Amino acid sequence: MEDNNKRVTVREQDDNYTHNIVRLNERSLDRRGFMKTMVGAAGLFAISTLPWGGLAAKQLFAKEENPFPKKKIADVATLAKGEAMEFHYPSEHESALIIRVGENEYKAYQNACTHLKCPVFWGKEEKELLCPCHHGKFDVMTGKPVAGPPRRPLPEITVQVENGVIYATGVKPYEA
Ligand code: FES
Repeated sequence: MEDNNKRVTVREQDDNYTHNIVRLNERSLDRRGFMKTMVGAAGLFAISTLPWGGLAAKQLFAKEENPFPKKKIADVATLAKGEAMEFHYPSEHESALIIRVGENEYKAYQNACTHLKCPVFWGKEEKELLCPCHHGKFDVMTGKPVAGPPRRPLPEITVQVENGVIYATGVKPYEA
């Protein structure tokens, strides 16, 4: 029976710098080396993806955070029923209007007209939100346009009353 571990050598005259390689050993080393490389690469890949997995899990299970600040509008006592007050929300550059429509009911909107951005004001007599530029009108309970050129509602600001203070808590997403 032939010995498989027999040293295979290359004749001296064929020397191409590989005559001292034991081919069978080289093959087994190759396989082992390959396996080690693959295991190493798989381990490296698994470790490198851990932070992304963590991030994805955080995104998946985290509650959706409100991107808007909670900001004081006024004390309840300073806003009589049927009256309105201007304020700014969410930033100091965004003008808004709050109307006390009932004893414990408030409606608030960003008051840049959805037609061409003129400031909308509270028509106390008409009980509507009015735009003086092109006679646009908005329903105070929904913010939807009811007359004139505006086609989109005013963005509504959510409010919350706590211990006699009215706060703005967010802007409702636009619904077509
Ligand atoms: S800007 Fe308000 S109706 Fe035109």
